[in-house]
Parts: sequence; C-alpha cells; structure tokens
Amino acid sequence: MNKFKIKTEVKFSDNAIDALLDYKNVNAAIVTDEFMNKSGKVKMITDKLSGCNRVDVFDEVKPDPPISLIIKGLEFLEKCDTQIVVALGGGSSIDAAKAMVFMAKKVTGKDLKLVAIPTTSGTGSEVTQFAVITDEEKGIKYPLVDEDLLPDLAILIPELVTSVPPSVTADTGFDVITHAMEAYVSTLANDASDALAEKSLKICFEYLPVAYKEGDNLIAREKMHSASCLAGMAFNEVGLGINHGIAHALGAKFHIPHGRANAMLLPHVVEFNADLHHNFGKYNKAEAMQRIAEISRMLRLPHDTKRIAVESLVEEIKYMMKMMKIPATLKEAGVTKEDYEASKADIIKSALNDSCTKTNPREVTEASVERILSKIAIW
Ligand SMILES: NC(=O)c1ccc[n+]([C@@H]2O[C@H](COP(=O)([O-])OP(=O)(O)OC[C@H]3O[C@@H](n4cnc5c(N)ncnc54)[C@H](O)[C@@H]3O)[C@@H](O)[C@H]2O)c1
Ligand SMILES: [Fe+2]
Repeated sequence: MNKFKIKTEVKFSDNAIDALLDYKNVNAAIVTDEFMNKSGKVKMITDKLSGCNRVDVFDEVKPDPPISLIIKGLEFLEKCDTQIVVALGGGSSIDAAKAMVFMAKKVTGKDLKLVAIPTTSGTGSEVTQFAVITDEEKGIKYPLVDEDLLPDLAILIPELVTSVPPSVTADTGFDVITHAMEAYVSTLANDASDALAEKSLKICFEYLPVAYKEGDNLIAREKMHSASCLAGMAFNEVGLGINHGIAHALGAKFHIPHGRANAMLLPHVVEFNADLHHNFGKYNKAEAMQRIAEISRMLRLPHDTKRIAVESLVEEIKYMMKMMKIPATLKEAGVTKEDYEASKADIIKSALNDSCTKTNPREVTEASVERILSKIAIW
C-alpha cells in the first residue's frame, strides 16, 4: 500500500509572515541562533508576534545541535511557560526546536504548537518528521523519527535566505538535490513522492547555480525555498538512502556541514546504486539503474542508453560541485588521513545502522560502504 499525508500547513508567497499575527494572548518563544538574533531577523518575527503576551528568545543553537542543547532549551521553554514555539533558522535551529517541543509535550503533557520558518533552502525540516540530534560523547548523529515532530505550520519567506553566503547556499542546495534523488530511488517511492522529487530536482538544476552566483536574486531564492520544501515532503514519506546514512556519520565525526558531506558522496552513491562498475554483489540493479536514468532524462541530460544517462548525471553533479567550489575529497574538506583511519570502522558501522539506509535501492554491506568512502578518502 502507498500513502501520502502532510500534517504541516505550509504558507508561502506574499505576506506569508502575516500568519504570525493570528497568535494573540499566548506566550511565544523563538528558538534560533545568535546570527539570526544579531542580524535583525528575530526582530522581523517578534514584530509580527505583537499580539502575544510575551515573546522570549533562545538563541543558543549551534550547527549539529547536541543533546545538551536540547535539555537546556527544554528548561527554557518551561521557564517561559510557552504555548507557541517559533523555530527560526537553518535545519539546526528547526531540528533543535522540534526536539525541544517534542520532549516538552511528553514531559508536561501540554499542547505546544510549533511554527517552523527556515532561513536556509536545504533540509526541508519544516515539513519532516525527523530531527537530527548529535550525541557528542559517542560521536553519532541520530535522526529522531516521530510524526509528533512535524511542525504545525511552516512559513516560507525567501527574503530571509538572501543573506546565506555562497558556500552555505551550495552546501544546503546539495542537501535538497540529495533528498530529491534519494527519495526518487527509495525502495518506497510512489507516484506522489516522485512528483515532488521530480519538481524539486528540476528547480535545483535550474536555480541553484543562480542562487549561488546572485545571492540576492529573490526569484532564485524563492524557487530553491520551494524545492527544499518539496524534497522534504517527498523524503518524509518514502525515506532516504545510504548517501544520508554515510553523511550523518561523517558529519558527527568531522563536523563537515551536512549538505557538503552529501554532495561529496553523491556522485559515488549514484554510481554505486546504478552498479555502473559491476563491482558489487547481488541486488535489484536493473530497477535502480532505470530510476537513475529517468532522472537524467527528466533533466534533459544525454540519455541515449541507461549507462550514458547515469554517466551524464554523475558528470553534471561533479560539474556543479566544482563550479560551486564544493570539496570532492575528505582532504579538501579538512580531514586528516590519521583522523579518518581512526574513525573509519565507526563511520561504516553507524552508516549501516542509520535509519536512512533502510530505504536505499541497493543492498548495502560493510564492503560497499568502505568502497564508497574510498572514493573520497584520497590524500
Ligand atoms: N530534520 C530533517 O529532516 C533534516 C534533513 C536534513 C538535514 N538535517 C539536519 O539539519 C542540519 C543542517 O541544517 P542546515 O544545512 O540548514 O544548516 P545550519 O542550520 O546548521 O546552518 C548553517 C549555517 O548557516 C547559518 N545561516 C542559517 N541561515 C542563514 C541566513 N539566512 N543567512 C546567513 N547565515 C545563515 C547558520 O547560522 C549556520 O552557521 C544538520 O544537523 C542536518 O543533519 C535535518
Ligand atoms: Fe539532508
């Protein structure tokens, strides 16, 4: 049985931010990072929450939010006696807020509402039932998965994204591409998730280079904001794959930004799933290769044969990465050979155990993860 459902209401286009004016006579809290507060973006939100009794701000979120931060945020929410939580920021702020609200509801039994306002076009976290939290002691990133993590409302405001620097635009844009591609080839993919992933990919390949080169191009920013949300809806239903499984492990060990880790792996995971080099064991390769070839055709890349289609997709990904100065190897991403060798076994183990890996179209083994890693472990 296939299914498609979205609990989160999404508001976008002109005046979407005015949805906040509806919150009256309640206590609100904003969960964000220091940059958002100092840059005046928090004020844009508090101005619209003027009907609330009080608005408190927790601006301590850092990239890859750890468990300790969630506990601190929980204490904050309790102290402010909040009814509405507004998550403002990239995936890190939204995930942190989702985890805090989820736990606060469990602990207090209170019915908290969560509004997510993304300021990067990347994770799609505003419409997903995932929150990725880091266990710093163990060096592992955990995707928490629960329908109760879904925000009640998402507001897409492209003006908030124009300040994202080119390198973060590139990283987060590749997160969107990876979400859409992994959803498209997921073992659970269906017509509804395909439609969302296809549209997202078409937008990304057209508008990500524009958003990268012209950060203040509002049309490109609006398109990428939509692409991020559509890809989020797609993978929320049908899951991701080994690309995200390994990227989580690399992010936890070496703090490589999430989208960058995805981009570095993507050409090699596409080749692996399509079994382009016939190096691996048994699996349903015909279907995975077919799906990947379809992506090429959809993007109007050369696709005379399935092999040509896969190769041209891999080349296009590598071209875009180079154009946007995304590192291709762990060395270029600042990881030393010694650190990599010391962590390799843990990375393979946590990639195999990651919940995203379950829906990869091709069976993944220790040897195949090692093989994919070897393509970026070059010094
Ligand atoms: N929940 C999900 O479904 C999901 C999906 C994919 C990734 N994630 C997680 O999300 C996190 C990554 O999120 P991200 O890629 O959005 O990055 P991020 O939230 O970590 O932000 C990256 C940097 O960009 C800055 N930034 C954010 N918005 C900005 C703006 N408008 N202008 C200038 N700077 C801005 C932040 O301050 C930060 O320094 C990772 O922890 C990843 O694992 C979650
Ligand atoms: Fe992601």
